Formats: sequence, C-alpha cells, structure tokens
Amino acid sequence: MLNAEINEIGQFIPLHYHYQMLSDASRMTAFKSAIEHIVKPEHKVAELGSGTGVLSSFAARKGASVWSVEFNPALVSASRRFISENGLSHKVHIFQGDAAKWLPPEPVDLVICEMLHSALLREKQLHVVSAFRDAHIARFGSAPRILPNATLLGVQPVFQNYDFNGYFAQVPLFQSPYYTVEDCSPCGDPVVYKIVDYDNDYVETINADLSFTFNEETNVNALRFITKNLLSMDMYTGKTIDWHSQYLIIPFGIAFELKAGEVMRVKFSYDPGEPIEALGNSIQVEIVGKNKVKHKLSLIA
Ligand SMILES: C[S@@+](CC[C@H](N)C(=O)[O-])C[C@H]1O[C@@H](n2cnc3c(N)ncnc32)[C@H](O)[C@@H]1O
Repeated sequence: MLNAEINEIGQFIPLHYHYQMLSDASRMTAFKSAIEHIVKPEHKVAELGSGTGVLSSFAARKGASVWSVEFNPALVSASRRFISENGLSHKVHIFQGDAAKWLPPEPVDLVICEMLHSALLREKQLHVVSAFRDAHIARFGSAPRILPNATLLGVQPVFQNYDFNGYFAQVPLFQSPYYTVEDCSPCGDPVVYKIVDYDNDYVETINADLSFTFNEETNVNALRFITKNLLSMDMYTGKTIDWHSQYLIIPFGIAFELKAGEVMRVKFSYDPGEPIEALGNSIQVEIVGKNKVKHKLSLIA
C-alpha cells in the first residue's frame, strides 16, 4: 500500500503504542463495563479496528461470536496469537482490511469501534462507523447497535503553564481528564459545540462560533478541547457508561488579559479525522469589551 493511502486511512498504530491503551485503566474499565452490559451470549458482534483484540475478547467472554477487522498486518498476526493464547480462537475471527470497506459474513447485533482521538481528530471513527452502518443496512437490511452511541465535543478557555524547566514553549499538548492537572487552570465553563450521533451522523465539517463571558479579570492563553464518549446507556435506568478521550490543549501563542464583563468570541472549523493542525490553524479569537472588538487573533499559519 502506498504511503499516501496509509496516511489517508491515517491510523497505522504500531504494536508498541498498544501498551498505553491496554494499561489505561479508565479506558479499559469503561469499555469492559459497557461491553459486558450490552452483550448477550446469543449476540453476534463486529469490532472495527480491533488492535490487540482486547475489546473483542470482552464480547467473546460474554459468549458472543465476534468478527474483527484490523488494518495493520502486524497487529493482525499479534492479535490472532493473543486471542489464541487467551483460549478464544473459536469465538473471535480476525480479518485484515480497511474497516470502512469491510462487512462480516453475517449480520451483527453490535459494532464496537474505538478510534476516538481527542476532538475526533486524526482517527477516522465517524468515517468508518457511518460506512459500516450503511453497508450493513444495504446488505443485511438492519442497523446494528453501535458502541459508542455518541461523542460530545466541548471546549473551554484555560490558562496553561508552558514553562518547562525554565524553557518557555507554547506547544499543543494532551492531558488526562481523570487526574487533577496542577499546571492548567480552567477559566470558564465548557461549552458543547457538537454532539456526534453514531446511529445517524455522517462526516461533515464541524463549525463553532462560541462566546465566553468573564465576570472577573482573567488571563486566558489556550483552549482545552473535551471529548466525552457515551459508550452505553441503560434504557430502564437511563444510566450511562462514559469515557473521556484525552483533553487536547491548543495554545493561542499569546495571553489575553480579560477584564470583568469582556467577552471572548472563539471560532473554529475542522473535519473529523483531520490532523490536529487543521483545528489549530482554524482558530480565530476576538476580545469584545463594551460592544467593540479590542483584539483579534487568527491562528491561521
Ligand atoms: C485506538 S486503536 C484501538 C485498538 C483496540 N480496539 C483497543 O481498543 O485496544 C485503533 C485501531 O484501529 C486500527 N485502524 C485504524 N483505522 C483502521 C481502518 N480503516 N481499518 C481497520 N483498522 C483500522 C488501528 O490500526 C488501531 O489498531
């Protein structure tokens, strides 16, 4: 396969990165609970982008028959070995291919897909899920349940410390949503700019035009992007199992000193699956005080 094609698929995640995912306790616990909650022994399940096969194994251990597809050939061989070493070869069948062009041999009750990068950038979650969903309906006449159901995308102004041992460098960075981070202070409530519904949505440009009002003097130098994935919902209790992808912090390159009553207007635009730079380069900020624009910033390179 040509490099350009690999980049287009964009997700050639080598085996050594999978340790991080396997040992991420919040990710693993949330997916395991959601899969165990939904899957019944009589179910047929497909996993798109199965990596090491760990999420397929959770479904198989509930008794389901699982067909999984993984693009990276090295991971396909490694995961076949892991599935066999875990005694699940009779339950999980792993195919090599592009999940956006693949269907299992039989209709499935559930599809699992974890290509959930921050802000739905880089990985092709929505491309792959919507293509699979439509192909499944066209071929088998039914829509499978999708795990996750939805992703909620939010953003908030923050003040991030960019001092690294005395060296100042305003770089984009990732943060765990599960631990308190000392060097990042939220400066306002998060605003939801998009809810992606995997049962119905297609890839389309996400446009945001948001306003944050400050009630006291505040310094803001970055935006924190929040990505909350709704993995499953109990239809009787309404309880949900959620998992946050890592926060993404994008610096403005300058710090705004906002006075009480001033408004920060933020605009950005990107397509799901695009590189982080596509979001970063689209950010525009306006500081509005007493109905007039005091400062304009465009991060367009
Ligand atoms: C974030 S990892 C998750 C792996 C595994 N599902 C887990 O939860 O540990 C995403 C996986 O999807 C695979 N992938 C990305 N795009 C794909 C595509 N178009 N078709 C098949 N696999 C793909 C990657 O190689 C990677 O193994």
